[in-house]
Amino acid sequence: MEVVPLHEPAEVAALAADIVEEQVRRRPATVLGVATGSSPMATYTELIRRHRAGTGPSYGDVTTFTLDEYVGLPDGDPQGYRTTILRELACPLGVPQQQVAAPDPTASGLPTAGERYEDLLANAGGVDLQILGIGANGHLAFNEPGSSLASRTRIKTLTAKTRQDNARFFHDIEDVPRHVLTQGLGTILDARHLLLIATGHAKARAVAAAVEGPLTASCPASILQMHRRVTVLVDSAASRGLARLAYYLDVWHHKPDWQRPGG
Ligand code: GLP
Repeated sequence: MEVVPLHEPAEVAALAADIVEEQVRRRPATVLGVATGSSPMATYTELIRRHRAGTGPSYGDVTTFTLDEYVGLPDGDPQGYRTTILRELACPLGVPQQQVAAPDPTASGLPTAGERYEDLLANAGGVDLQILGIGANGHLAFNEPGSSLASRTRIKTLTAKTRQDNARFFHDIEDVPRHVLTQGLGTILDARHLLLIATGHAKARAVAAAVEGPLTASCPASILQMHRRVTVLVDSAASRGLARLAYYLDVWHHKPDWQRPGG
């Protein structure tokens, strides 16, 4: 696992954007795994800024897969995760709508929604680069503490903590759905490169537990320790709890140029 401690959230966004762009330049038909929530938003804004400035790659052949989706929102609700990705990333970058996938939360199809999403992922050849955020309780996508470390896409019930954390996107906490569809931890592990973005002090404990704590379903993001290619980008607030911070900084500052994005 590579942990890159940076200072400002803007530096995190810039480096994350470099990594995404490099992936898309190398493989224009990249399968990009995308996260919602606030963590990746600055990265998305940066990608869009570069795309509009004409310095970014073309995204016309990219396919995106969202990590998760709320169940029970009215059709077209602005808080739906596919709608969010279309609005905040895919449309501005020119990813065609039909190449923007998300688990299908239609009520009648829920029993098979997980399996169908797994099939879609497999048919697309799997995710090349998966962008991830982390919940304050260590959740990854919507895999709450206690989720099977081998889980696949399925329906989950949100914890009170996650509903509270996400209430800021809704008028009222009662509007936050209780159920979601989410890629499992095993599904996420299948992506070829995982890119975790964490900023702000509220994430410091979860980041430390995920990166340096024991591998446990009590901190779902600790499953990252089982993946062979993980990049963790943190700002100074989110890196505060890391015991090996000095080492990560040393590694980053002495990294050979050819190993850096764009190198
Ligand atoms: C949300 C999402 C996750 C996200 C996490 C953190 O509920 N399902 O994909 O990474 O919780 O959210 P935020 O980045 O807003 O703190």
